[in-house]
Amino acid sequence: MQPLFAGKKGLILGIANDYSIAWHIAKNVLEQGGECGFSHLPDKPDDERKKNRHRVAKIVEALPGCKFLHPLDVSRDEDIAVFVAKAKEELGTLDFVLHSIAYASLDDLRRETIATSRDGFKLAMDISVYSLLAVANACRPLLNPNASILTLTYFGGEKVLPGYNVMGICKAALDASMKYLAYDLGPASVRVNALSAGPLKTLASSAVGAKDMGELYKEVAPLGRNVTHDEVGRIGAFLLSDFSGGITGEVLHVDAGYNIMGSPGRMLDKLKG
Ligand SMILES: NC(=O)c1ccc[n+]([C@@H]2O[C@H](COP(=O)([O-])OP(=O)(O)OC[C@H]3O[C@@H](n4cnc5c(N)ncnc54)[C@H](O)[C@@H]3O)[C@@H](O)[C@H]2O)c1
Repeated sequence: MQPLFAGKKGLILGIANDYSIAWHIAKNVLEQGGECGFSHLPDKPDDERKKNRHRVAKIVEALPGCKFLHPLDVSRDEDIAVFVAKAKEELGTLDFVLHSIAYASLDDLRRETIATSRDGFKLAMDISVYSLLAVANACRPLLNPNASILTLTYFGGEKVLPGYNVMGICKAALDASMKYLAYDLGPASVRVNALSAGPLKTLASSAVGAKDMGELYKEVAPLGRNVTHDEVGRIGAFLLSDFSGGITGEVLHVDAGYNIMGSPGRMLDKLKG
């Protein structure tokens, strides 16, 4: 059997380091023969060490499937245009696009949601939500029939998880954006989905208490544990591949079943002694 991504080309947006969910998905895509263009957060002009680029380059640049690594700040339309032009030049057309990007200021995340600042709200929504629409629209002319776009979401957009705050609002808007995109791109046979991952240790998740949530999942989730980076990586690759053909507009939970619970389950039994 041919590798899952043989002859497939696409974009991986959102690797910061080797804990990043985007990296764990990309690993599977690369192992299965895919060719990828990667983004990194732009470095400040006065940063001679180019820390952001360096962190991603040392993970991906030597890999045969890495076709380019280019800076991208998704809050800048010019950056998106230049990045997609680079993708056209290096890859021609696209079979998959991974959007694994979110940001909210620590100040806003640490406030009660009711006290979110106007600028902080706009920034979080711009980077964490609007960017999916902007990237999809810029990539649209390059997308092959059967291409797949995938974004990363979290249960905090469906239910209230104290501490997730403004990011919960962003994830709810991201889920809706994903569904509307799935409708728009359906006639071109392009699928759009979201993977809702259980809490994993990453740079971004340290700001929203993923460690404590991971402990809770062990007590409450039907599987009695949290998920792993590897599990999320494999399902992410599945959703980007032709194996998930027929699935679009879907939020797929990879969370050891936590989202189905309507009570603390076995944790309640423990509390009762
Ligand atoms: N880690 C978790 O527990 C968890 C659970 C569910 C969903 N997610 C989601 O997964 C996605 C990836 O996060 P992660 O946990 O792998 O953390 P991460 O910090 O490794 O990845 C976040 C990425 O967003 C990028 N980014 C931020 N602002 C950007 C901008 N303006 N332009 C371009 N890129 C920008 C960062 O450079 C980084 O690569 C996010 O959408 C996050 O909300 C994470």
